[in-house]
Amino acid sequence: MGFLNKHQIIERSPTLLLVGSFLVVSIGGIVEIAPLFYLENTIEEVEGMRPYSPLELTGRDIYIREGCYNCHSQMIRPMRDEVERYGHYSLAAESMYDHPFQWGSKRTGPDVARVGGRYSDAWHVDHMSDPQSVVPESIMPKYAFLMDVEIEGEYIQDLMETHRFVGVPYTDEMIAQASADFKVQVDPFGDTDGLMERYPNAVVSNFDMQPELTEMDALIAYLQMLGTLVDFSTFTPAASR
Ligand code: HEC
Repeated sequence: MGFLNKHQIIERSPTLLLVGSFLVVSIGGIVEIAPLFYLENTIEEVEGMRPYSPLELTGRDIYIREGCYNCHSQMIRPMRDEVERYGHYSLAAESMYDHPFQWGSKRTGPDVARVGGRYSDAWHVDHMSDPQSVVPESIMPKYAFLMDVEIEGEYIQDLMETHRFVGVPYTDEMIAQASADFKVQVDPFGDTDGLMERYPNAVVSNFDMQPELTEMDALIAYLQMLGTLVDFSTFTPAASR
């Protein structure tokens, strides 16, 4: 056991042990960190991902303003219980246009990363207005006032430009059409061709069923698209391609 005996030399000398540990940690650190300097992108590109539509982006801001992230996470971990409950585990690319991301670390309520399409708009209206009316044991607060707050999207272009500034690929056309796209997304009888071309798979609906465009519309537009952009019937992770 000559090798093990030599190990004693290191363990008995604090200086040698320190120098040895330092070397090991440095090598490990370089191996982990150095590639990040020449890798152009650490996020695997995934088909289907697109920036938020103007109305969805506004809904996302309401989600953040109301602190929904205090009770809801948006990151499905690759463990079996989570995948069976919520669906495919979250991909890095699915939050690549989120500034800031909404992963969260607290689940008083369920994860909402894939809540899009799971309930009808009417269910969301009832649930947001009075959660206990649909889930009697719910401890979620009521957000009925969102129905009464009308919005016009007057700052939507500034908001999109800010997101472009931090790397979201909004085009000049998207920003120029922002106000029109903002309004047409709640009008199922409107001309939505441009909207659908710029934001494929956007959900068009009069979400809150009122004639006015309200914060409730924007929030539900956001909830209804969460986790729906990537088609997991055709998706294969890069590692198994
Ligand atoms: C105090 C914690 C709390 C806050 C804050 C909160 N929720 Fe909830 N939420 C819950 C709980 C608990 C549930 C599960 C019971 C239920 O469905 O009401 C839930 C359920 C939900 C669901 C249904 C999820 C599913 O898969 O069934 C949605 C959607 C939702 N919340 C959205 C929101 C939004 C949007 C906000 C912010 C405007 C918000 N919540 C704020 C606690 C919270």
